[in-house]
Amino acid sequence: MTRTSTVQTPPEERHDQAAGAKPRILIVDDEPSMRDMLRIVMRRDGFDVEVAANGKEAIELLKRERIDLLLSDIRMPDVSGVDVLRAAKEVNRDIVAFMMTAFASTDSAVEAMRLGAVDYFTKPFNMDELRLKVRQHLETMRLKQENVLLKRALNTSNEFCNIIGRSNAMLDLFKMIETIAKTNSTVLITGESGTGKDLVARAVHYNSLRREHPFVALNCGGLPETLLESELFGHMRGAFTGADSNKKGLVEVAERGTIFLDEIGEMNHAMQVKLLRVLQDRRFRRLGGTEEVQADIRIIAATNQDLQKMVSEGRFREDLYYRINVIQVHLPPLRDRREDVPLLAEHFLNKYAQGVDKPVRGISRETQELLAAYGWPGNVRELENVIERAVALEQTALVLPESLPMQVRTSAGMSTQSAQPSSARQDAGRGLPDISEGFDLEALGEDFYRHYIALALEKSGGVQSRAAEMLGMTFRSFRYYAKKFNLK
Ligand SMILES: Nc1ncnc2c1ncn2[C@@H]1O[C@H](COP(=O)(O)OP(=O)(O)OP(=O)(O)O)[C@@H](O)[C@H]1O
Ligand SMILES: [Mg+2]
Repeated sequence: MTRTSTVQTPPEERHDQAAGAKPRILIVDDEPSMRDMLRIVMRRDGFDVEVAANGKEAIELLKRERIDLLLSDIRMPDVSGVDVLRAAKEVNRDIVAFMMTAFASTDSAVEAMRLGAVDYFTKPFNMDELRLKVRQHLETMRLKQENVLLKRALNTSNEFCNIIGRSNAMLDLFKMIETIAKTNSTVLITGESGTGKDLVARAVHYNSLRREHPFVALNCGGLPETLLESELFGHMRGAFTGADSNKKGLVEVAERGTIFLDEIGEMNHAMQVKLLRVLQDRRFRRLGGTEEVQADIRIIAATNQDLQKMVSEGRFREDLYYRINVIQVHLPPLRDRREDVPLLAEHFLNKYAQGVDKPVRGISRETQELLAAYGWPGNVRELENVIERAVALEQTALVLPESLPMQVRTSAGMSTQSAQPSSARQDAGRGLPDISEGFDLEALGEDFYRHYIALALEKSGGVQSRAAEMLGMTFRSFRYYAKKFNLK
């Protein structure tokens, strides 16, 4: 697209505008009297007017000048009006085009409409009707362009796509996003599950020059190999059973935009090779296709796994790892940036309280303390869920500890315990819920186990024996609980 940033002004407002901002019309007709009449009328209506006596002249002019509206005769010797229209659309897809014809030669009129002309007039036509339509269409175009500008302004005021944070780590992250958004480099976003990798990928795209082109996300862990390949690269008819037509892959859909490969660590070996090819040469082949296709895409990948470790274990290609890891953005776990907890809690409270029209307006001090002390193995996602649940349960204006799930309520006391095992164990009851109506010791115990087993798995990077050791458990009983709670 050529000039989306030019906002057009309707003729009514022309007096306030600089000459350059007037819409510019090109009149093309081989008949001098028609040309002159249209020129006079359109000038009087406040437009900048250019004229051409034949198609060739018109096409040259279109290439040289900024033209907003084309008004062309269809029947002309040598180069026809339809050819002029075609050339005009090539230069400026958004040009408003009207065609004129001496008699209803519907074939070429239909062809012109197909090429994107907005209307056609059969000569002799009513000049007022033409003037009205010209004005209407230019106004529509102006609104459309204003929308594009507005959208862009919104994108920039939303700088970081609702990523909340005030810890130094997050402030650094914001700066980092701004910097890398301006580049075309491949980005690898790492961090535990729920830390906001998805949000960051979007923020990079929407702050980049590619923001008006698609952002396409694909979860590499979610699909079996052939499906993943066809999803990514598309397929030709007959490439496999059930492929009964050609289909564009996401790499093509994302053309000039960004493709987000989530859970890249889940990609199998064969796909890793194919992806490497795209990263190296920006070329790929559709499934069942022979032709190589060029791809103009930016790639952002994310993982919650330790890719470097996977490389050393031979589970992830080293060459691909280096191709992807051009710029790495690491999202620290929430427990390492506790300053963000109150801000995030507030943000989610507003989000969910609004949606359900609840009287909940704040978070009690005691609740705040519990939130601040908790380990958040599920990171921001877990915090969001906890607040959503609390808003749903809470009947008062403040979120009270009772509306928090058991593991959050009880972790404050438990973390003291793990720091000082012997003395703390004596008053392990501190901070635990009192026996009251609905008390369920079994459930409470399960919550404890679930919480600590997940936490130990997180801290040990998924190594079960180490996690068991951290918890002072035998490997056997650790495995029993991990399985019971479906934790991996
Ligand atoms: N800094 C943040 N500010 C506001 N919301 C956040 C923030 N970080 C995460 N969230 C929210 O938490 C949830 C999880 O975030 P997201 O999906 O980006 O995590 P992720 O790192 O991609 O996790 P996974 O590895 O499980 O895919 C989302 O609903 C997201 O909107
Ligand atoms: Mg994600």
